[in-house]
Amino acid sequence: MTKIEFKSIGTIHSQFKDLEGMPIQPIGARGIKGEIHLNYEYKEGLEDLEGFSHIILIYYLHLSSGYSLEVKPFLDTEKRGIFATRAPKRPNPIGISVVRLEKIEGTKIYISDVDIVDGTPLLDIKPYIPNFDKHDDDDIKIGWFENKHHKAVEKKSDRRFLD
Ligand SMILES: C[S@@+](CC[C@H](N)C(=O)[O-])C[C@H]1O[C@@H](n2cnc3c(N)ncnc32)[C@H](O)[C@@H]1O
Repeated sequence: MTKIEFKSIGTIHSQFKDLEGMPIQPIGARGIKGEIHLNYEYKEGLEDLEGFSHIILIYYLHLSSGYSLEVKPFLDTEKRGIFATRAPKRPNPIGISVVRLEKIEGTKIYISDVDIVDGTPLLDIKPYIPNFDKHDDDDIKIGWFENKHHKAVEKKSDRRFLD
């Protein structure tokens, strides 16, 4: 097994101090503001980022401990294979969120549409480019989410993945 080591490049701050009751995806967090405090050593890497309205955040789901290969996701009552879900209790607890970039001031990045708990270690930032990331193919399938994804707008988190 290859051992890989990452270090956080900064910290994500949000109003969510607890998993209970927070949004489960950015679609359910529209307008909810947050901040990224980037470690100073990475400041130069922010050059040119302000030209993007949305960014992809890749982060360490630091409150997850252990993992389950089958989980009951927030949007279902049936168990699903972890890799067919966005649940946080994963072998490598990595989260991704496409958030709106509001502004950058020094090493502070102001964002909105935040579905991330306060204090989450940030691993990477990438620009969101619809031409690269969005598929317009008419044969896209979204598996068991088919009749359930719309519920992510309203559905709130609980603490089920902490145990
Ligand atoms: C379903 S996950 C989706 C995260 C991301 N948008 C994704 O798709 O990878 C979002 C949930 O993860 C949990 N969560 C958020 N930040 C976390 C953290 N730092 N550690 C563990 N769980 C976290 C909360 O329960 C939140 O509602």
